[in-house]
Amino acid sequence: MKIIVVSDYERMSEEVAKIVQAQIAVKPDSVLGLATGSTPLGTYRKLVEMAKDGLDFSQVTTFNLDEYVGLAGDHPQSYRYYMEQNLFSGVNIPREKTFIPNGTAADLAAECAAYEEKIKGAGGIDLQLLGIGSNAHIGFNEPGSEFGSTTRLVDLAESTIEDNSRFFASREEVPTQAISMGIKSIMQAKQIVLMANGENKADAIWATVLGPVTSDVPASVLQLHPFVTLVLDEAAASKL
Ligand code: GLP
Repeated sequence: MKIIVVSDYERMSEEVAKIVQAQIAVKPDSVLGLATGSTPLGTYRKLVEMAKDGLDFSQVTTFNLDEYVGLAGDHPQSYRYYMEQNLFSGVNIPREKTFIPNGTAADLAAECAAYEEKIKGAGGIDLQLLGIGSNAHIGFNEPGSEFGSTTRLVDLAESTIEDNSRFFASREEVPTQAISMGIKSIMQAKQIVLMANGENKADAIWATVLGPVTSDVPASVLQLHPFVTLVLDEAAASKL
């Protein structure tokens, strides 16, 4: 596990964007695994700037980690909408190469199985970006998620519903379920970059890096991956 500690959110975002840029430079048809949440917003802003300066997404394929169940792609809190607003509309990626689980699929189990197959069909993920929940979840793999898990329907932890309620008008509007890539789906990526900023992530980062590898701390599984980089601001790294 390589750990890069930078002074602040801007630097963290720059650092992660540079890793993505390098990935696309060495492999223009890279398969990127993408994350949502507030953490990657700065990274996506930088990538949009880089795209204006010529970074070419035309051959890139993307797979997002997760999507809320019950929210259609045009719902402002859906992750499809988030990706469109924050990255896809600012880079030259063909939409048919952007994959996000469909949280309104009639058969959610079939949607999950098909998603996993699509990742395999694309040749697997070259670079997976991750944020981290305050309970150390990755994607929507909440504490207790099996390390062998693949894309599936998950119940959100109370703490996650609480954390994410800031984006919704009320707590009652936060979906209670999601489709999430599994721990195994994430661990199969060739390279993983986890970013975190702010003091409220410091405990989760401590447990991820220095705690035991346990499904109670989903991100701790990353200790077992051969090519992981953590990009942290000083606050998130403050307990290491
Ligand atoms: C969300 C997402 C995760 C994200 C995490 C942290 O619920 N499903 O992929 O990493 O929670 O969010 P934030 O970056 O807003 O702190």
